[in-house]
Amino acid sequence: MYKAFFGLKQNPFNLSPDPAFLYRSFQHEEALANLIYGVHSRKGFIVLTGEVGTGKTTLLECLRDFLVSQRIEFAYVFNSRLTVEQFFDMIAYDLNLNCRRESKTEVLFALNELLISRANAGLTTALLVDEAQNLDWNVLEEIRLLGNLETRVGKLLQIVLAGQPELDRKLDAPDFRQLKQRVALRCTLNPFQEADTVEYIRSRLEKAGLAEQTIFPPEILAEIHYRAQGVPRVINAICDNCLLTAFAAESKTVTMEFLEEVTQDLRLEWPGRRPYRVRPESSETPFRSEPQFSRGLK
Ligand SMILES: Nc1ncnc2c1ncn2[C@@H]1O[C@H](COP(=O)(O)OP(=O)(O)O)[C@@H](O)[C@H]1O
Ligand SMILES: [Mg+2]
Repeated sequence: MYKAFFGLKQNPFNLSPDPAFLYRSFQHEEALANLIYGVHSRKGFIVLTGEVGTGKTTLLECLRDFLVSQRIEFAYVFNSRLTVEQFFDMIAYDLNLNCRRESKTEVLFALNELLISRANAGLTTALLVDEAQNLDWNVLEEIRLLGNLETRVGKLLQIVLAGQPELDRKLDAPDFRQLKQRVALRCTLNPFQEADTVEYIRSRLEKAGLAEQTIFPPEILAEIHYRAQGVPRVINAICDNCLLTAFAAESKTVTMEFLEEVTQDLRLEWPGRRPYRVRPESSETPFRSEPQFSRGLK
């Protein structure tokens, strides 16, 4: 809606996990390198954890692009609220297994055949699971068993589990200690530091067609970082709404007033935020909260 107004070719702050918009912060770069290295060199189990909105699914999408480019076959389980039957059905579908997909025994048999023949041909096969913290214990147990499949030369299936920090706690359960001990690589995504937030916003605007961003002044960037607590998904939501608000006001820059309005509408919480006041419906004077510049602004 606001694209033409700001001279943008694409929407810069989409919430989809689009690899084309990847901002290679040090930690994202490192985590992606680990995922690629782990699968490529057949390390077995790889675990990627991070709070909601820190970029896990985006990295899995990048990994997926890499696997496709390398012709590495993989199954991608993104709906983690599955029964054991549905789980095997998805694997069979993704890996194009020639068997009755509703029969776990048949799927396992066909999967084993496929993995062995691919390994003998020097080919890698992977299983990616997103939102793995939600996996049912029974499904997690099946994944553990799949991770046990190996020949003399190494693991037959490379398993990447991505999930919120609860995943780590889940793997602490007595039954999964063994799995946890066998996790060859572990990557964690943390929220951005302020410098990364600034660079992240700049990089998304640049990819959307704006070589030099003048929309967000430095003090606004600092405040966006603080209010989003460095979480990319929240940064996107704030920035997208700020652009919309600025567009509606025919302003080429985002002001503190717009940011106030947006974070209020998003019902955003951040340390030191003042309690929300209800916006008076029929007041003569438009509502204006006094922004509490908890940090970053003087
Ligand atoms: N390094 C990054 N580069 C570009 N966009 C990112 C990055 N990290 C997160 N995002 C964006 O933040 C939002 C949330 O990311 P997502 O991968 O869905 O997080 P998670 O899966 O950890 O909840 C998406 O819009 C995504 O594009
Ligand atoms: Mg996700």
